[in-house]
Amino acid sequence: MFAMKARLFLLVFAVAAILPAASLRELADAHGILIGAAVNPALLADQAYADTLARDFNLVVAENVMKFGPTRPARDRYEFTAADQLVDFAQSHNMKVRGHNFVWHQQMPRWLTSGTFSSAEVAGILQDQMRAMLSHFKGKVFAWDVVNEAVDPDPPHGLRKTFWLDKLGPDYLDKAFRWAREADPDVKLFYNDYDADGMNAKSDAVYNLVRGLKARGVPIDGVGLQMHVTLQSAPTAEHLAANIRRLAALGLDVHITEMDVRLATPAKPEDLVVQGKVYGTIVATCALTPGCKVVLTWGVNDAHSWIPGFHKGFGDALLFDAQSQPKPARTAIEVALKLIP
Ligand code: G3I
Repeated sequence: MFAMKARLFLLVFAVAAILPAASLRELADAHGILIGAAVNPALLADQAYADTLARDFNLVVAENVMKFGPTRPARDRYEFTAADQLVDFAQSHNMKVRGHNFVWHQQMPRWLTSGTFSSAEVAGILQDQMRAMLSHFKGKVFAWDVVNEAVDPDPPHGLRKTFWLDKLGPDYLDKAFRWAREADPDVKLFYNDYDADGMNAKSDAVYNLVRGLKARGVPIDGVGLQMHVTLQSAPTAEHLAANIRRLAALGLDVHITEMDVRLATPAKPEDLVVQGKVYGTIVATCALTPGCKVVLTWGVNDAHSWIPGFHKGFGDALLFDAQSQPKPARTAIEVALKLIP
């Protein structure tokens, strides 16, 4: 196994060595691909963080600051300062912005979850939220995760039991997408979920969910495959391509929205190489499969990734290390982007 990994390492770096170094975003631009990262605007003051972002990415998404809780501190008060800072950075560096998210069971404001609102009031509060966000960021954010992680991670993968299901009923996705479309006729509207990247029971459930939305004429434009994976759980190229193809056949775009590949820490050098193989495979598969032209990583560098805080003993999941130095994963994406026709 190690000999195979070592050969792969040599191959990747031999190819990288004979091709001139290039920024990922320039390579992506040449293929009409968007390569993005989730950003915490408070970190833009860190020069290495900001430089990395501006050099290698042509797309950003807010890791947290566009969510319901952070943007709506009170029923009648909106807070866009941090999100505006991110949009300003993106605009001044000629980057696109993805929006994340409107309807999720996490990072909701406490005034909402602990309130005693009727179903009609909750519907009104959500519509107000989407109207406010879609109007404030109109023309600045090209696609929004309207609903995030609605499918139960446990079999049989029905709708997750959440505040939204409880308050708005089982057709809450239909409502949310229709309200979003009413508020902005132009922006792309996405459903986003995790562990549904390749072909498995959960991705079947996501597929059936969005097929149902399409069949009912609900205005959905795409599906986000989050791609929070390990070396073992990452989908094969074949399974990812098959999943993208079946979603594209419904008329939906696919974005890889939150990719990271977590490693047991401290990471072994060979794991960093195999991690590169996973990143290169996913980016190449997306780029080569019609319907998928967008890949984002969930963070910029390993110093600020969510992984160590949520998956004990794991980390080193991104393209840049804690000092913002490029890892084999970045090289692997560079090579993949150089080699695709
Ligand atoms: O902002 C507060 C701060 O005021 C407070 O003092 C501090 C104390 O814990 O918490 C801060 O909030 C944290 C927030 O990130 C901002 O840093 C929350 O505790 C923390 O739970 C939150 O974690 C985020 C998580 O979503 C929330 O569930 C992660 O950063 C973020 O990476 C993660 O992102 C999600 C995507 O939105 C959806 N898909 C899965 C992905 C990973 O979980």
